[in-house]
Formats: sequence, C-alpha cells, structure tokens
Amino acid sequence: MNTPYYIVYEQKLRHNIELITSVAQRAGVEIIMAFKANALWKTFGSFRAFGVKSTASSLNELQLGNEELRSLVHSYCPAYTPETIGRYLEGSSHITFNSISQWERFRADVERFNYNGPHSVSPGLRVNPQCSVIDTDIYNPALPGSRFGVTADIIGRQLPDGIEGLHFHALCESSSHDLEKVLAAFEEQFGHLLPQVKWVNMGGGHLMTREGYDTDHLVELLRGFRSRYPWLTVILEPGSAWTWRTGDLVCSVVDIVDNQGVKTAIIDGSFACHMPDCLEMPYRPAITESTPEGTPYRIGGNSCLSGDFVGDWHFATTLKIGDRLTFEDMNHYTTVKTNMFNGIQHPSVIFERLDGTQQVLRRYTYDDYKERMD
Ligand SMILES: Cc1ncc(COP(=O)(O)O)c(C=O)c1O
Repeated sequence: MNTPYYIVYEQKLRHNIELITSVAQRAGVEIIMAFKANALWKTFGSFRAFGVKSTASSLNELQLGNEELRSLVHSYCPAYTPETIGRYLEGSSHITFNSISQWERFRADVERFNYNGPHSVSPGLRVNPQCSVIDTDIYNPALPGSRFGVTADIIGRQLPDGIEGLHFHALCESSSHDLEKVLAAFEEQFGHLLPQVKWVNMGGGHLMTREGYDTDHLVELLRGFRSRYPWLTVILEPGSAWTWRTGDLVCSVVDIVDNQGVKTAIIDGSFACHMPDCLEMPYRPAITESTPEGTPYRIGGNSCLSGDFVGDWHFATTLKIGDRLTFEDMNHYTTVKTNMFNGIQHPSVIFERLDGTQQVLRRYTYDDYKERMD
C-alpha cells in the first residue's frame, strides 16, 4: 500500500461500539455519536448494525446522519438562521437552542413544524453549568464568558414556555469523576428546572473506551441521576469515545536533514494537514516504531509551514529513506479536520475488515484538490 494512508480497523471499531452499547443498556440511557469526531461514512455499517444514532451541529452533519445512519438526528448548532432552521427541523428528532433569544426567534418555526410536519421535533435549551474540568482552553466550553449555553442566573426559576429538554456539554476526553463534578454543578444550578422537562442531554467528552475509564462508576452515576429524576430520558453524545484508538496514519520517511545538531526525518505526510490536533492541542502522538531510548529525531511534515514539525522521538536504529512510521490513534477528530494546504498528497483511507482484508475507501487525486477551489 502506498503511503501516506489512514487505516481504520473494523475490529477496534466493533470493540468500542459494543462497549458503549453495553454502558447504554446497563445505565438505561441513550448514547448517540457526535459526527464532529468521525464522519468516515463508509464505515457506518458497523454503527448501523447496533442502531447508533447521531448528533449534528451543521446541515452537512445532519444530512449525513439522515442518509448514512438512516435516522433523524439530535441537532445542536450555536446559532440557527432563518435560512437553516427549516432543514434542521426536517432532519431532527431533537433540537437544542444555545440561547433564549435563539429559542424566541425560532419557536414559531418549531411549533408550525410540529403542527404540520411529518414528525415532531423536541426543543431543548443548552445550559452552562460553569464547571471547568478541562485544562486546554481551546477545548473548554466552560471558560468564563463562553458563548455556549445559558447560565442559571439568566434563566431564573422558570424555563421559557415550550422548552422540553436541557443540554449541557462541559467535558473533553474526561473521566466519570469529571462528569460527577459537572453533574453536581448542573443539579445544583438547574435541578429545580428538571420537573419542567422530558430529557437531559449530557453532551460529549465521556471517554469511556479509554483504558482505565471506570465504566462501572459511570453506570452508577447515571443510574443515580435517573433514580432522582425517573421521568427524564437521559442522552449522552460522545464523539471521540466511539473511534478512540481505532485507526492510525502510516507515512514514509522521504529525507533526513541534520541542521544545527537537530536531525529531522521528513515524512510524506504533514502535521499541519493530516494530524492538525498535534499542533492545535498540542500533543506528541505515539509512533509505533519508536523506542524509549536510541537516536533522537524530530519528525517534519512535507509542507512549507515552518512549524510543521513535532519532536522528539527516539529510534533503536537510525532512520533511513523508505522507513515507515505509524502515527497511532489518528481516527477521531483527525480524519474530519484534515486540509489540503500546500496541495500535498492527501492520505488514502483504508478500512481493514473483520476478516483482515483491506479495502481502499478513498484515494485522493489532483481533482479533489482542484475541486475545492475556484
Ligand atoms: C455539543 C457537543 N457535543 C458533543 C461533542 C463531542 O465531544 P467528544 O468528542 O469530546 O466526546 C462536542 C465536542 O466538541 C460538542 O461540542
């Protein structure tokens, strides 16, 4: 197989889907998939087999959920507009508004749709429990002044008439103990409103497929919540957890440069284009072929961005042109966030099926680069 390519393992996807489905069953909640972390729709057969539904935060995600998971979606978008609201209602079973002004602006559209439309859509409001458990600001929806969700002081004792659900999202790659803290803040600030609603969506960030995540504690927390509010349907909408450690990016070394004592292995991929979270978060991904000790190398992308490098890793033997490097865990968020900056070759997408056969889902060509531009 020519590099660069992403490879997704059906076996690993299946493992995550089974784990999440079993948590949902044990806890008596609904767990849907956030498309923002994964939109490789040619792998969705694995999700459909388990009846997984999705959440959408754009019309493109909504259409993908309708078409490829073949179900209505739970929508949440920071701001709907008169141009988009109708299409959101057509494709959604639930729709969450980010502010009271958004609800007031589109309430009549929801009511008209529910009166005349082919199905009804349950409207909810996103609230912000202002409980911060995330260290990286760019991933923290509870930063002071955050644009996400309504705070308790604005709502007061009574929800706006017509609102049927509450939504909060405050986690990112978090543990059940982080959820416990956020849930306590949520109940303290919004508990008095729960008798007024039918459902609560606890957002994403529940990384229940990470090694060491205490799923028993999560189930216990969710059961406890349900026993306090037995009339509520509880929904979780993780993204990363579904595709955590289900795929890698494989690249080849195409040159080695040694400048001012820094050895850089240049690859036929790019951090900026093909692993953007490594620069944005930032973090240093695991490389399967690296070793705890040995010759140190910086790895550089084949783009012209000066900062397109991450380091350092060690290798037991000196790297040479043609060596393959496997950047681990490059499915969730990575495959959806890639770009074609510099026009460098975009990695193909390979799906390794349960029987070990490898299917090429996509090979990118010049036309893909050209068609994005005008
Ligand atoms: C509203 C909402 N729901 C769900 C998610 C998915 O979160 P994660 O992929 O961390 O589970 C996000 C991520 O940004 C989000 O903003």
